[in-house]
Amino acid sequence: MCGIVGFTGSADALPVLVNGLKRLEYRGYDSAGIAAFDNGGIRVTKTRGRISELERILRGQPDFSSACGIGHTRWATHGEPTDENSHPHLSHDGRIAVVHNGIIENYADIKARLIKRGYSFRSETDTEVIAHLLDFYYKGDILVALAKVMATVRGSYALGVLCADRPGEIIAARLDSPLIVGLGDGENFIASDIPAFLEHTRDYYTVDDGEIVCLTKDSVTVYNSDLEEISKERMTVSWSIEAAEKGGYEHFMLKEIHEQPKAVRDTVSPRLENGRIFLDTNINDDFLQDISRIHIIACGSAYHTGMVGKYVIENLARIPVECDLASEFRYRDPIISGRDLCIVISQSGETADTLAAMREAKRRDIKTLAIINVVGSTIAREADYVLYTWAGPEIAVATTKAYSTQLVMLYMLAVRLAAVRGLLDAHTEKKLTAECLHLPEKIEAVIAQINTLSYLASRFHNHKDIFFLGRGVDYAAALEGSLKLKEISYIRSEAYAAGELKHGTIALIRNDTLVIAIATQQSLAEKMVSNIREVKARGAHVLTIASEDTRQMLSEVSDDIFVVPSCFEKFSPSLTVVAMQLFAYYIALCRGCSIDKPRNLAKSVTVE
Ligand code: G6P
Repeated sequence: MCGIVGFTGSADALPVLVNGLKRLEYRGYDSAGIAAFDNGGIRVTKTRGRISELERILRGQPDFSSACGIGHTRWATHGEPTDENSHPHLSHDGRIAVVHNGIIENYADIKARLIKRGYSFRSETDTEVIAHLLDFYYKGDILVALAKVMATVRGSYALGVLCADRPGEIIAARLDSPLIVGLGDGENFIASDIPAFLEHTRDYYTVDDGEIVCLTKDSVTVYNSDLEEISKERMTVSWSIEAAEKGGYEHFMLKEIHEQPKAVRDTVSPRLENGRIFLDTNINDDFLQDISRIHIIACGSAYHTGMVGKYVIENLARIPVECDLASEFRYRDPIISGRDLCIVISQSGETADTLAAMREAKRRDIKTLAIINVVGSTIAREADYVLYTWAGPEIAVATTKAYSTQLVMLYMLAVRLAAVRGLLDAHTEKKLTAECLHLPEKIEAVIAQINTLSYLASRFHNHKDIFFLGRGVDYAAALEGSLKLKEISYIRSEAYAAGELKHGTIALIRNDTLVIAIATQQSLAEKMVSNIREVKARGAHVLTIASEDTRQMLSEVSDDIFVVPSCFEKFSPSLTVVAMQLFAYYIALCRGCSIDKPRNLAKSVTVE
């Protein structure tokens, strides 16, 4: 939600900021702006619309150049996307500029108090109170003023601040919203995420909650909330900028779909040894043997991988698993015992609800294991144990490769749990390990059928409603297939457990409604045949996604059939979802949608 960037150096800051914002556009894209030091003051250019619009306006201001500034790309929370509500926001005298990612929960209160003291507001945002509050507390030391602001506001924030009295300097701070500092040679950066500065430096610091950072072109000083200087560990990014570029593909989403075999391979291979799976985290076998219940917590697609995880872990390791939406878990006063394990799943490692739910679990004294893609993210740092997925940077808002790596991480965890608990003989353990190892080539085989999926999409892209049906893991996969379609094509879609459809939703099936039936499990294939007959009897057109094992039984009842390779049945979402990702992609392409940046969405949701 919102991306912030800042640059101080010798080069012209404006192109650096604009390019940085473009790399953060996945975080929000309804308005954008920059503020930079200019002629003894601060100059702001901002607009509603995408960063290309900001760039167009800046092209018309050739006199505007600066060596230090901050920028913002917005995903609106308080106030519509208008020019006035765009960031940066200025104090009334224009001497302080602020960009903000997060939500200030007590802003209305603060605003009322500031208005009483004579401050007037230009926008409807919560952020503007920070600019005025900084002005209110500012008595010559912007760091002291910022520390007082942080003690006054409630909520979440990553902040970038310029103060006209300190040209060439950026002040930044965070609480519960991502913020990192890029460390260059004679230039330094702040950003919400690494790609914003990766073409300039690979070295960075993570900023922790409550810390304040002061950057000049030659120095980075980090303070705790008492304004005492602290030292930070220098980190280095292991991937390159090319990984965050399109590399010849029309969209990031298509590129990332194609990267799935490699991402899954990179996630599996380092964890295999002699046909067994090892977990590269300090979790010990005694603990794994002793777990009485698992709570999987996540949002969005990560929650859908958790749904698959529930089926797989229960099936292999015979541990009861509850899968919760993080936004529900955190407020439902869950029943937890000391021998429970909480697994949180998140690509970004910054999702506000997931982070809060994990903290709730920790508060109740249960161990937390995080499956995370972004190294060093907040959830990764706070969890007791971390397993990284090695998907690399994912830019398209609709997740694909991160989802696939989360799935395989859950399979490996399930196999390991089952092995440690004595539920797998050596032969079965080897077989399941090999199944994980061979998934990449099977995913490649699905991607190789891309033309079939694009052809199917060209036939169905005009449908208004599309239903997805499945049982067990196929139902969990259907949830993700339906979400992918909704997110990028805006077609209304629902996923149903196939046996549940007749309890109400079947009323919506009409002549020519498209139903996508996922049916990869031999043991449930007959049941799926009956469900398909039920919807066909009401006029539906059925496209079935079957496996090589079920194709024969399903082809008789289906109007169209797409076949994925056979694998251990419970792992089949790794294959069916890839087919549904491509189907959704081509439908969105036919409909002329904004595939990488769908309307109203943001990739990283760091507000509640
Ligand atoms: C957003 C994204 C989804 C993602 C969800 C959870 O809604 O658009 O694609 O699944 O957040 O994100 P996380 O980073 O925690 O996996």
